[in-house]
Amino acid sequence: MITVEGLTRKYGAFTAVDDVSFVCQPGRVTGFLGPNGAGKTTTMRVMVGLTPPTAGRVTIGGHLYKDIPNPGRHVGVLLDASAQHAGRTGREILTIGAQTMGLPASRVDEMLALVSLDATESKRRLRNYSLGMKQRLGIAHALLGDPSVLILDEPANGLDPAGIRWMRGLLKSYADRGGTVLLSSHLLHEVEQIADEMILIGRGKIVASGTKDELLAGSEHTTSLVTALDNELLAKALREKGVTVTPAGSGLRVETAPVEVGRLSVEQGIVLTDLRAADGGLEELFLSLTEDTQREAIAPAAAAPAAPTQGAQA
Ligand SMILES: Nc1ncnc2c1ncn2[C@@H]1O[C@H](COP(=O)(O)OP(=O)(O)OP(=O)(O)O)[C@@H](O)[C@H]1O
Ligand SMILES: [Mg+2]
Repeated sequence: MITVEGLTRKYGAFTAVDDVSFVCQPGRVTGFLGPNGAGKTTTMRVMVGLTPPTAGRVTIGGHLYKDIPNPGRHVGVLLDASAQHAGRTGREILTIGAQTMGLPASRVDEMLALVSLDATESKRRLRNYSLGMKQRLGIAHALLGDPSVLILDEPANGLDPAGIRWMRGLLKSYADRGGTVLLSSHLLHEVEQIADEMILIGRGKIVASGTKDELLAGSEHTTSLVTALDNELLAKALREKGVTVTPAGSGLRVETAPVEVGRLSVEQGIVLTDLRAADGGLEELFLSLTEDTQREAIAPAAAAPAAPTQGAQA
Protein backbone atom coordinates (compact mmCIF):
# COMPACT_ATOMS: atom_id res chain seq x y z
CA MET A 1 0.00 0.00 0.00
CA ILE A 2 1.15 3.51 -0.83
CA THR A 3 0.59 6.24 1.75
CA VAL A 4 1.06 9.87 0.84
CA GLU A 5 1.01 12.16 3.89
CA GLY A 6 0.88 15.94 3.68
CA LEU A 7 3.18 15.97 0.67
CA THR A 8 4.37 19.38 -0.48
CA ARG A 9 7.02 20.13 -3.10
CA LYS A 10 8.07 23.70 -3.80
CA TYR A 11 10.35 25.00 -6.53
CA GLY A 12 11.40 28.40 -5.23
CA ALA A 13 8.23 30.37 -4.65
CA PHE A 14 6.19 27.97 -6.82
CA THR A 15 4.31 25.13 -5.14
CA ALA A 16 4.05 22.18 -7.54
CA VAL A 17 2.46 19.82 -4.99
CA ASP A 18 0.49 21.34 -2.15
CA ASP A 19 -0.24 19.31 1.01
CA VAL A 20 -1.35 16.18 -0.84
CA SER A 21 -2.51 13.11 1.09
CA PHE A 22 -4.00 9.88 -0.22
CA VAL A 23 -3.71 6.13 0.06
CA CYS A 24 -3.50 3.44 -2.63
CA GLN A 25 -4.87 0.10 -1.44
CA PRO A 26 -3.71 -3.39 -2.45
CA GLY A 27 -6.05 -5.11 -4.87
CA ARG A 28 -7.13 -1.78 -6.33
CA VAL A 29 -6.18 0.26 -9.34
CA THR A 30 -5.92 3.91 -8.31
CA GLY A 31 -6.12 6.48 -11.07
CA PHE A 32 -4.25 9.73 -10.56
CA LEU A 33 -5.92 12.22 -12.80
CA GLY A 34 -5.26 15.86 -13.52
CA PRO A 35 -4.56 18.34 -16.31
CA ASN A 36 -1.06 19.13 -17.59
CA GLY A 37 1.16 20.55 -14.89
CA ALA A 38 -1.14 19.50 -12.05
CA GLY A 39 1.66 17.81 -10.13
CA LYS A 40 1.21 14.11 -10.96
CA THR A 41 4.73 13.38 -12.11
CA THR A 42 6.21 15.41 -9.26
CA THR A 43 4.19 13.40 -6.73
CA MET A 44 5.32 10.13 -8.30
CA ARG A 45 8.94 11.25 -8.40
CA VAL A 46 8.79 11.94 -4.67
CA MET A 47 7.28 8.48 -4.13
CA VAL A 48 10.34 6.78 -5.56
CA GLY A 49 12.94 9.11 -4.11
CA LEU A 50 13.85 10.97 -7.31
CA THR A 51 12.67 14.31 -5.91
CA PRO A 52 12.97 15.17 -2.22
CA PRO A 53 9.76 16.52 -0.67
CA THR A 54 9.67 20.01 0.83
CA ALA A 55 7.31 18.66 3.49
CA GLY A 56 5.41 15.45 4.19
CA ARG A 57 6.36 11.95 3.10
CA VAL A 58 5.41 8.92 1.07
CA THR A 59 5.73 5.38 2.34
CA ILE A 60 5.31 2.16 0.41
CA GLY A 61 4.35 -0.78 2.58
CA GLY A 62 5.31 1.38 5.55
CA HIS A 63 8.84 2.19 4.30
CA LEU A 64 10.41 5.11 2.51
CA TYR A 65 11.37 3.96 -0.99
CA LYS A 66 15.06 4.61 -0.31
CA ASP A 67 14.95 2.26 2.70
CA ILE A 68 13.57 -0.70 0.74
CA PRO A 69 16.34 -3.22 -0.01
CA ASN A 70 16.31 -4.31 -3.67
CA PRO A 71 13.33 -2.01 -4.38
CA GLY A 72 12.68 -3.38 -7.88
CA ARG A 73 11.46 -6.62 -6.26
CA HIS A 74 8.76 -4.71 -4.42
CA VAL A 75 7.94 -1.60 -6.41
CA GLY A 76 7.70 -1.48 -10.21
CA VAL A 77 8.21 2.02 -11.56
CA LEU A 78 7.63 3.56 -14.97
CA LEU A 79 7.99 7.32 -14.99
CA ASP A 80 9.67 8.08 -18.30
CA ALA A 81 10.04 5.27 -20.82
CA SER A 82 12.80 7.17 -22.63
CA ALA A 83 14.93 7.46 -19.52
CA GLN A 84 17.16 4.53 -20.49
CA HIS A 85 20.45 4.39 -22.33
CA ALA A 86 19.46 5.06 -25.95
CA GLY A 87 22.30 2.94 -27.31
CA ARG A 88 21.22 -0.24 -25.51
CA THR A 89 18.82 -2.75 -27.00
CA GLY A 90 15.55 -3.54 -25.26
CA ARG A 91 16.90 -6.95 -24.31
CA GLU A 92 20.06 -5.42 -22.84
CA ILE A 93 18.06 -2.96 -20.76
CA LEU A 94 15.94 -5.76 -19.29
CA THR A 95 18.99 -8.00 -18.79
CA ILE A 96 20.80 -5.31 -16.81
CA GLY A 97 17.65 -4.82 -14.75
CA ALA A 98 17.38 -8.55 -14.08
CA GLN A 99 21.05 -8.79 -13.09
CA THR A 100 20.75 -5.79 -10.76
CA MET A 101 17.74 -7.36 -9.07
CA GLY A 102 19.32 -10.82 -8.94
CA LEU A 103 16.75 -12.41 -11.24
CA PRO A 104 17.30 -15.34 -13.64
CA ALA A 105 17.90 -14.40 -17.30
CA SER A 106 14.76 -16.33 -18.24
CA ARG A 107 12.76 -13.53 -16.68
CA VAL A 108 13.82 -11.25 -19.56
CA ASP A 109 12.21 -13.49 -22.16
CA GLU A 110 9.09 -13.85 -20.07
CA MET A 111 8.71 -10.08 -19.87
CA LEU A 112 9.42 -9.54 -23.57
CA ALA A 113 6.70 -12.07 -24.37
CA LEU A 114 4.32 -10.45 -21.90
CA VAL A 115 4.58 -7.03 -23.56
CA SER A 116 4.66 -8.51 -27.09
CA LEU A 117 8.07 -7.28 -28.15
CA ASP A 118 9.34 -9.84 -30.64
CA ALA A 119 12.91 -11.15 -31.07
CA THR A 120 13.87 -8.62 -33.76
CA GLU A 121 12.44 -5.68 -31.83
CA SER A 122 14.17 -6.74 -28.63
CA LYS A 123 17.53 -6.53 -30.45
CA ARG A 124 16.88 -3.00 -31.71
CA ARG A 125 18.45 -0.06 -29.86
CA LEU A 126 16.17 2.05 -27.70
CA ARG A 127 16.85 5.16 -29.79
CA ASN A 128 15.19 3.36 -32.69
CA TYR A 129 12.12 2.31 -30.71
CA SER A 130 8.76 3.86 -31.44
CA LEU A 131 6.98 5.62 -28.58
CA GLY A 132 4.66 2.67 -27.99
CA MET A 133 7.55 0.18 -28.07
CA LYS A 134 9.41 2.22 -25.45
CA GLN A 135 6.28 2.23 -23.35
CA ARG A 136 5.95 -1.56 -23.63
CA LEU A 137 9.59 -1.99 -22.68
CA GLY A 138 9.04 0.34 -19.72
CA ILE A 139 6.10 -1.77 -18.55
CA ALA A 140 8.22 -4.91 -18.95
CA HIS A 141 10.95 -3.27 -16.88
CA ALA A 142 8.49 -2.25 -14.16
CA LEU A 143 7.14 -5.82 -13.92
CA LEU A 144 10.54 -7.53 -14.11
CA GLY A 145 11.04 -8.04 -10.38
CA ASP A 146 7.45 -9.29 -9.87
CA PRO A 147 6.71 -6.34 -7.54
CA SER A 148 3.58 -6.01 -5.41
CA VAL A 149 3.26 -2.27 -6.10
CA LEU A 150 3.23 -0.56 -9.49
CA ILE A 151 3.73 3.18 -10.01
CA LEU A 152 3.13 4.14 -13.62
CA ASP A 153 3.16 7.67 -15.02
CA GLU A 154 0.97 7.97 -18.14
CA PRO A 155 1.56 4.30 -19.08
CA ALA A 156 -0.94 4.39 -21.96
CA ASN A 157 0.95 7.25 -23.63
CA GLY A 158 1.86 6.14 -27.16
CA LEU A 159 0.07 2.80 -27.01
CA ASP A 160 -2.30 1.94 -29.87
CA PRO A 161 -5.95 1.09 -29.05
CA ALA A 162 -5.20 -2.64 -28.83
CA GLY A 163 -2.22 -1.84 -26.60
CA ILE A 164 -4.35 0.28 -24.29
CA ARG A 165 -6.89 -2.52 -23.97
CA TRP A 166 -4.11 -5.03 -23.33
CA MET A 167 -2.62 -2.83 -20.61
CA ARG A 168 -6.01 -2.34 -19.00
CA GLY A 169 -6.42 -6.14 -18.76
CA LEU A 170 -2.88 -6.56 -17.48
CA LEU A 171 -3.28 -4.01 -14.69
CA LYS A 172 -6.73 -5.24 -13.71
CA SER A 173 -5.56 -8.83 -13.32
CA TYR A 174 -2.46 -7.60 -11.49
CA ALA A 175 -4.70 -5.82 -8.98
CA ASP A 176 -7.05 -8.82 -8.79
CA ARG A 177 -4.07 -10.88 -7.64
CA GLY A 178 -3.59 -8.41 -4.80
CA GLY A 179 -1.23 -5.88 -6.37
CA THR A 180 -1.35 -2.15 -5.71
CA VAL A 181 -1.48 -0.03 -8.85
CA LEU A 182 -1.15 3.73 -9.11
CA LEU A 183 -1.39 5.10 -12.62
CA SER A 184 -1.54 8.69 -13.73
CA SER A 185 -3.19 10.23 -16.73
CA HIS A 186 -4.43 13.55 -17.99
CA LEU A 187 -7.12 11.71 -19.97
CA LEU A 188 -10.26 10.85 -18.06
CA HIS A 189 -11.41 8.19 -20.53
CA GLU A 190 -8.18 6.30 -20.13
CA VAL A 191 -8.56 6.12 -16.37
CA GLU A 192 -12.27 5.78 -15.78
CA GLN A 193 -12.48 2.37 -17.42
CA ILE A 194 -9.71 0.85 -15.37
CA ALA A 195 -9.50 2.66 -12.03
CA ASP A 196 -11.32 1.40 -8.94
CA GLU A 197 -10.43 4.60 -7.13
CA MET A 198 -9.71 8.01 -8.54
CA ILE A 199 -7.66 10.87 -7.17
CA LEU A 200 -8.26 14.16 -8.98
CA ILE A 201 -5.49 16.72 -8.75
CA GLY A 202 -5.49 20.30 -10.02
CA ARG A 203 -2.72 22.86 -9.53
CA GLY A 204 -0.97 20.73 -6.93
CA LYS A 205 -4.04 20.15 -4.76
CA ILE A 206 -6.34 17.15 -4.47
CA VAL A 207 -9.73 18.40 -5.64
CA ALA A 208 -11.68 15.13 -5.26
CA SER A 209 -11.16 11.44 -4.63
CA GLY A 210 -13.14 8.25 -4.34
CA THR A 211 -14.75 5.60 -6.52
CA LYS A 212 -16.54 6.63 -9.69
CA ASP A 213 -19.90 6.24 -7.95
CA GLU A 214 -18.78 8.26 -4.96
CA LEU A 215 -17.51 11.04 -7.18
CA LEU A 216 -20.73 11.13 -9.12
CA ALA A 217 -23.03 10.89 -6.10
CA GLY A 218 -24.95 14.10 -5.68
CA SER A 219 -24.39 15.29 -9.22
CA GLU A 220 -28.00 15.35 -10.43
CA HIS A 221 -28.83 15.07 -14.10
CA THR A 222 -31.04 17.91 -15.31
CA THR A 223 -30.63 17.60 -19.06
CA SER A 224 -31.18 14.61 -21.36
CA LEU A 225 -30.51 13.67 -24.94
CA VAL A 226 -33.27 11.50 -26.35
CA THR A 227 -34.24 10.02 -29.68
CA ALA A 228 -37.66 8.49 -30.29
CA LEU A 229 -39.17 6.72 -33.30
CA ASP A 230 -41.46 9.75 -33.43
CA ASN A 231 -39.53 12.76 -32.15
CA GLU A 232 -42.33 15.21 -32.89
CA LEU A 233 -44.79 13.27 -30.81
CA LEU A 234 -42.35 13.10 -27.93
CA ALA A 235 -41.50 16.80 -28.18
CA LYS A 236 -45.21 17.66 -28.09
CA ALA A 237 -45.82 15.49 -25.04
CA LEU A 238 -42.83 17.00 -23.24
CA ARG A 239 -43.84 20.57 -24.04
CA GLU A 240 -47.32 19.88 -22.72
CA LYS A 241 -45.63 19.06 -19.42
CA GLY A 242 -43.88 22.43 -19.55
CA VAL A 243 -40.46 20.99 -20.38
CA THR A 244 -38.12 22.89 -22.73
CA VAL A 245 -37.23 20.85 -25.81
CA THR A 246 -34.78 21.74 -28.57
CA PRO A 247 -33.76 19.65 -31.59
CA ALA A 248 -30.30 18.10 -31.24
CA GLY A 249 -28.79 15.97 -34.00
CA SER A 250 -31.21 13.20 -34.87
CA GLY A 251 -33.03 13.60 -31.55
CA LEU A 252 -33.96 16.11 -28.89
CA ARG A 253 -32.25 17.94 -26.08
CA VAL A 254 -34.59 18.02 -23.12
CA GLU A 255 -34.25 20.14 -19.98
CA THR A 256 -35.22 17.38 -17.56
CA ALA A 257 -33.70 14.22 -16.10
CA PRO A 258 -33.57 11.03 -18.21
CA VAL A 259 -35.85 9.25 -15.73
CA GLU A 260 -38.60 11.82 -16.37
CA VAL A 261 -38.31 11.41 -20.13
CA GLY A 262 -38.46 7.63 -19.74
CA ARG A 263 -41.51 7.87 -17.52
CA LEU A 264 -43.35 10.06 -19.98
CA SER A 265 -42.48 7.81 -22.91
CA VAL A 266 -43.98 4.83 -21.07
CA GLU A 267 -47.13 6.78 -20.18
CA GLN A 268 -47.58 7.92 -23.75
CA GLY A 269 -46.45 4.70 -25.41
CA ILE A 270 -43.70 6.45 -27.35
CA VAL A 271 -40.81 4.17 -28.35
CA LEU A 272 -37.35 5.55 -27.49
CA THR A 273 -34.26 4.42 -29.37
CA ASP A 274 -31.74 6.37 -27.28
CA LEU A 275 -31.87 8.10 -23.92
CA ARG A 276 -28.98 9.46 -21.88
CA ALA A 277 -27.94 12.22 -19.53
CA ALA A 278 -26.49 15.23 -21.29
CA ASP A 279 -24.79 16.57 -18.19
CA GLY A 280 -23.42 15.62 -14.81
CA GLY A 281 -21.00 12.96 -16.06
CA LEU A 282 -17.52 12.30 -14.81
CA GLU A 283 -16.02 14.42 -17.56
CA GLU A 284 -18.05 17.42 -16.50
CA LEU A 285 -17.05 16.87 -12.89
CA PHE A 286 -13.39 16.59 -13.85
CA LEU A 287 -13.56 19.74 -15.96
CA SER A 288 -15.39 21.75 -13.35
CA LEU A 289 -13.12 20.64 -10.51
CA THR A 290 -9.97 21.47 -12.40
CA GLU A 291 -11.45 24.49 -14.18
CA ASP A 292 -9.10 27.11 -12.86
CA THR A 293 -6.11 24.99 -13.82
CA GLN A 294 -6.95 24.57 -17.49
CA ARG A 295 -5.01 26.50 -20.04
CA GLU A 296 -8.01 26.53 -22.40
CA ALA A 297 -10.15 28.35 -19.85
CA ILE A 298 -7.63 31.19 -19.83
CA ALA A 299 -7.98 31.73 -23.58
CA PRO A 300 -10.53 34.36 -24.65
CA ALA A 301 -13.97 32.94 -25.42
CA ALA A 302 -13.66 33.87 -29.11
CA ALA A 303 -10.72 31.50 -29.45
CA ALA A 304 -12.78 28.60 -28.10
CA PRO A 305 -15.71 28.09 -30.50
CA ALA A 306 -17.14 25.03 -28.78
CA ALA A 307 -17.04 23.36 -25.40
CA PRO A 308 -13.57 21.89 -24.97
CA THR A 309 -13.37 18.22 -25.80
CA GLN A 310 -11.24 15.69 -23.99
CA GLY A 311 -8.70 15.77 -26.78
CA ALA A 312 -8.55 19.55 -26.96
CA GLN A 313 -7.34 19.87 -23.46
CA ALA A 314 -5.02 16.94 -23.38
N1 LIG B 1 12.41 20.83 -11.42
C1 LIG B 1 11.42 21.72 -11.52
N2 LIG B 1 11.63 23.04 -11.40
C2 LIG B 1 10.61 23.92 -11.49
N3 LIG B 1 9.33 23.60 -11.69
C3 LIG B 1 9.05 22.30 -11.81
C4 LIG B 1 10.06 21.28 -11.75
N4 LIG B 1 9.46 20.08 -11.91
C5 LIG B 1 8.16 20.33 -12.08
N5 LIG B 1 7.90 21.66 -12.02
C6 LIG B 1 6.58 22.30 -12.17
O1 LIG B 1 5.67 21.66 -11.32
C7 LIG B 1 4.39 21.60 -11.94
C8 LIG B 1 3.87 20.19 -11.92
O2 LIG B 1 4.61 19.43 -12.87
P1 LIG B 1 4.33 17.89 -13.11
O3 LIG B 1 5.35 17.39 -14.08
O4 LIG B 1 4.27 17.19 -11.80
O5 LIG B 1 2.89 17.92 -13.78
P2 LIG B 1 2.01 16.70 -14.34
O6 LIG B 1 0.75 16.68 -13.55
O7 LIG B 1 2.83 15.48 -14.38
O8 LIG B 1 1.65 17.20 -15.81
P3 LIG B 1 1.54 16.38 -17.22
O9 LIG B 1 0.14 15.87 -17.34
O10 LIG B 1 1.79 17.45 -18.24
O11 LIG B 1 2.59 15.32 -17.21
C9 LIG B 1 4.54 22.21 -13.32
O12 LIG B 1 4.11 23.54 -13.29
C10 LIG B 1 6.04 22.12 -13.56
O13 LIG B 1 6.48 23.13 -14.42
MG1 LIG C 1 3.50 14.28 -15.91
